Parts: sequence; C-alpha cells; structure tokens
Amino acid sequence: MRDMALLIDGKGIAEQVKEELKPRIAYLTAKGCQPGLAVVLVGDNPASQVYVRNKEKACEKLGIASWKYHLPADTPFAEVLQLVEDLNRNPQVHGILVQLPLPPQIPEREILYRISPDKDVDGFHPYNLGRLMIGDPLFLPCTPWGVQELLIRSKIEVEGKNVVIVGRSNIVGKPLAMLLVQKAKGANATVSLCHTRTPNLAEYTRKADILVAACGVPEMIHGDMVKEGVVVIDVGINKVGDRLVGDVEFEGVSRRASSITPVPGGVGPMTIAMLMANTVKAAERFYAQSAQEGEGRTGI
Ligand code: GUN
Repeated sequence: MRDMALLIDGKGIAEQVKEELKPRIAYLTAKGCQPGLAVVLVGDNPASQVYVRNKEKACEKLGIASWKYHLPADTPFAEVLQLVEDLNRNPQVHGILVQLPLPPQIPEREILYRISPDKDVDGFHPYNLGRLMIGDPLFLPCTPWGVQELLIRSKIEVEGKNVVIVGRSNIVGKPLAMLLVQKAKGANATVSLCHTRTPNLAEYTRKADILVAACGVPEMIHGDMVKEGVVVIDVGINKVGDRLVGDVEFEGVSRRASSITPVPGGVGPMTIAMLMANTVKAAERFYAQSAQEGEGRTGI
C-alpha cells in the first residue's frame, strides 16, 4: 500500500495569513483608521451563528473592530435594507458582511446588490464578481481565494493542471472556476466545473490533478472516483448525526490522494483569514482615499 496522503494544514496556513495582516492593521490603527467589519445576521440558523461567532473572534484577536447586528428572523426586508444603507455610509465600517442564507422574506440578491462594492468584503457583489471574471479582481470571494492561497502556500502547482470542481454555487464553485482559469500566478489551470447533475461525474473527477469538492453533499466523493496522487480540497462542512464531515469520504479518498484537506481544519479557517485580509484591504483603500481628499483640501 502507498503512503497515506499528506494533510494540508488549513488552520496553520490561515494563522500565517492572519499573522501577516498584523503590521498592516497596526499601521492603519496608528493613523486613526482601525479596520472595521460589520456583520449582519438575520434569524437563528445555528450554523450561521457559529460562523458569525468565529468571524467576530478572528476580528477580536487581530484588533479589527467588529459590530454584530443580530436581527430577528421576521425582520422586514426594508429594515435590513436600511441597515445596509446606514453601514454603507458609516466611515468606521470598512467591510460589510451579510451572513447567508437569509430568511425567505428577504430577497438575497436585493441585499447583496446594495452593499457598496467598496465594502463588499465577501466579494459577492456583481461588480466584484465581474471584475474577477475579466481578470481584474478587487475583492475576491473568501472561500475561493482561501482555496487558491492554500494551494499556493502548500507549494502545489496549479498552472497547467486539470482542476475539477464539483459544485456550482455562486459562493464557491463558479467564482473558484473563474479564479483558477485566469492567466495569473497560482492559476492558469484547465478547469472543469461539474455538479450534482453531471452525468458520469466520476469520469471527470478521475481526470483531476486537483479536485475541489464544494457540492454540499456529505461524503459524496469516494476513493474510486479519484486517481492516484490527486490533491483534494474539501470545502464541505456537513453535520451528520454528531459528526462533522466534508463532501469527501476522507478514509477512502486519502488512501489514493497525495494531499488532502481535513474537515474541520482545512478550508474553513482559510475563509475567515481571507475575510480578515479583505477587511484590511477595504480599510487601506478607505484610508488612501481619505488621505488623498485631505491633500486636495490643503492644496486649495
Ligand atoms: N454563508 C456560507 N458561507 C458564507 C460566506 O462566505 N459569506 C456569507 N456572507 N455567508 C455565507
């Protein structure tokens, strides 16, 4: 039997990414522009509450200001919209994140489209997704960016490789395909975007040099669906009974893979690290803009 797969240490790499943000945060804070993130949570989805808590904790540890707006599940659409508008105008808030999913009375798109693209640290606004598509990204969605950083920092070559993504969500699958297909560092891959309705899915997944599972189906990818030596990135987080499992059947797949991310401790911490990076970037852009305006005023 061949050796077991190498575990890709998402938790450790996320710590490294966050560590690198510290001097940038310290600089901005010293200039009176402490980075700030507003998180909006509507309703009581238990998974969302855990995610939001983890985002707040990360802010706290890094010295990023954070504000949580936890609204009842039956909050009217107009009220959520008004909150987003207020946050757009608030100069202390550099990043706005509205946790998904939203309750049914709140149309997700109408909210996401109202977040200022300059504060869109989730990278979900069509402006930011469009910029990603044309190869001129501003804010990248956190999970796809986290997957790319995991690969780069684990020294896994992406250029020229067959990347197969299983899952076509707007949050992960579609933007990740766009990111890895770009003519850019850490990209230049040939990307196949598959999903749960792909006939003969295993024929695609077996061709993958790098396989990304982001379909939201617990343990859907089995050992017989991958080739020897594949790199496997598992984006899934599913609760099955009292176990947390990914979209990959870990035991079987890790026997064939050269490297694989664990769940938990793989992609999850990277998503949060990239959110912190986007928040710092949003604050830097805000600071640069206000410094420029300040110069303009003194010049008159
Ligand atoms: N729900 C699941 N993942 C995410 C995410 O990355 N951002 C937001 N806002 N909601 C989510």
